[in-house]
Amino acid sequence: MNPYDQFPTTEADWRLRVFDSLSFPTLVLTPDRSIIAANTKFHERNGTTPEKILGKRCKDIFNSDTNLNHLVCQGASCPLTRVLELKKPQSVIQQSKDRQGNDLWEERFFSPILGENNEVRYIMESLRDITSVKKLEKKYSDVRELIDKVVQSSVSAIMAADRKGEIILMNSAAEKLFGYSVVDANKVNIEDFYPPGVAREIMKRLRDENIGEKGKLPITQVNVITKEGEKIPVEMTAAIIYEEDREAATAAIFNDLREKQAVQKKLEEAESQLYQSEKLASLGRLAAGVAHEINNPLTSILLYGNLMREKLEADHPLEKNLNYILEDAERCKEIVKNLLAYSRQTRPSKDIFYLNNLISESLRLIRDQKLFMNVTIVKRLAPEQILINADKNQLCQVLINLIINAIDAMDGKGTLTLRTYRDRQKSKAYIEVEDTGTGISQENLSKVFDPFFTTKEVGKGTGLGLSMAYGILEENHGKISIAKTDQTGTVILLELPEEQVTDSFQFMSIG
Ligand SMILES: Nc1ncnc2c1ncn2[C@@H]1O[C@H](COP(=O)(O)OP(=O)(O)OP(=O)(O)O)[C@@H](O)[C@H]1O
Ligand SMILES: [Mg+2]
Repeated sequence: MNPYDQFPTTEADWRLRVFDSLSFPTLVLTPDRSIIAANTKFHERNGTTPEKILGKRCKDIFNSDTNLNHLVCQGASCPLTRVLELKKPQSVIQQSKDRQGNDLWEERFFSPILGENNEVRYIMESLRDITSVKKLEKKYSDVRELIDKVVQSSVSAIMAADRKGEIILMNSAAEKLFGYSVVDANKVNIEDFYPPGVAREIMKRLRDENIGEKGKLPITQVNVITKEGEKIPVEMTAAIIYEEDREAATAAIFNDLREKQAVQKKLEEAESQLYQSEKLASLGRLAAGVAHEINNPLTSILLYGNLMREKLEADHPLEKNLNYILEDAERCKEIVKNLLAYSRQTRPSKDIFYLNNLISESLRLIRDQKLFMNVTIVKRLAPEQILINADKNQLCQVLINLIINAIDAMDGKGTLTLRTYRDRQKSKAYIEVEDTGTGISQENLSKVFDPFFTTKEVGKGTGLGLSMAYGILEENHGKISIAKTDQTGTVILLELPEEQVTDSFQFMSIG
């Protein structure tokens, strides 16, 4: 009869019953490794019966064909040997497969049962299934590995610091942005990554419940400082990492704004250029309309005025007045001509000439040479000849205006520097007109190319010079811009396409 069918009556029976009811497969062995007892759970796990294993030595049945679910004999490093030596419990973790072939992780505990003289009389071995713990551990380490990979491969710079501000994490994008390697970064404090006071301000905001969520910093723009001391604008977010309500670390994500800002600036420049050309185009149409309307009456004023002068007797008292009328009418005609040039109503001719000749000719053409009396003219001309294919007369007009503007800005005394040079790769030729004058104020900078904008007194300037130059340069596939202007002077830059030299030029006469 099965002894377990009876309810235990003695304490010894209870102990036996408890041993058998343990939910862990358990064996009792003698020091010479013979199995003297196994509980029901052990037989269930291994599909054995007491007859098959009792009295056998463990090494004979483990690893054998009976295949006790791969209970592996540890051979020389058998924990039983250590239990006998040290008289203390030992354990090993063993990986095997269960009967269905699934991964099985078990911890094997070996506990000594001591005799009266403190000698090891028996050893109890029990198996604890730790597969689910191991699976969780594996899952956790896989997730950690994945997070590591995500952090490392992120294009955003990611960094974390502990409570003392020491760097505990830095991904490769952060190494690149800040110029530190993780090893170097360990030697510096998080405060060194920002201009003075900024790290503290960030921490203050992080802890402020009124700014975003507590412990989180919404997207903020700041400057960071690299190892080399360079200031870089970034967009950042940060968060405090809490461990049971206690601040444990701070993590931050940074995105370099330099490229974005450069693109933004270019876009703004392009927009303002577009605005400027649209504005000039509509003003041009208006100017052309007005110029055409004025041209006819002006022609008849000049025609009849000249006829009248011819008819007047010499020294007629009205002759002087008539001359004033005719002179001013001539001036109006000049303005109308300029207006038409500005509005590109006159077609540019095509001349092939050397750039440096344009400079000398323009200087020669300035009628009032007295203007140059107190001005030092410095010519820094390209040593080589640069060929241009454009309307030479129109460009002379442009240069004369730029030179007169420069002299006006210097109030007749200072240094006027004329430069020519080329960019072979871009096939561009450049002229710079530099003065040591008073410069253009920020307020006027956007208006100087507008027709009729002038700061000069009435009768001295019509405000058409630069607007005309803008039109002429566009017509000749070039550009005019203000390269520099401040209290020390102004540099106006002209850019023109360079004519490519072909053999046929050798036989042409070049101006
Ligand atoms: N080199 C310069 N330095 C300082 N200010 C300048 C310079 N060139 C132009 N300006 C400013 O730009 C304004 C417009 O120049 P623009 O040549 O179009 O007209 P203007 O010289 O006033 O008249 P116009 O050329 O028709 O006789 C000038 O009145 C002056 O205020
Ligand atoms: Mg001018």
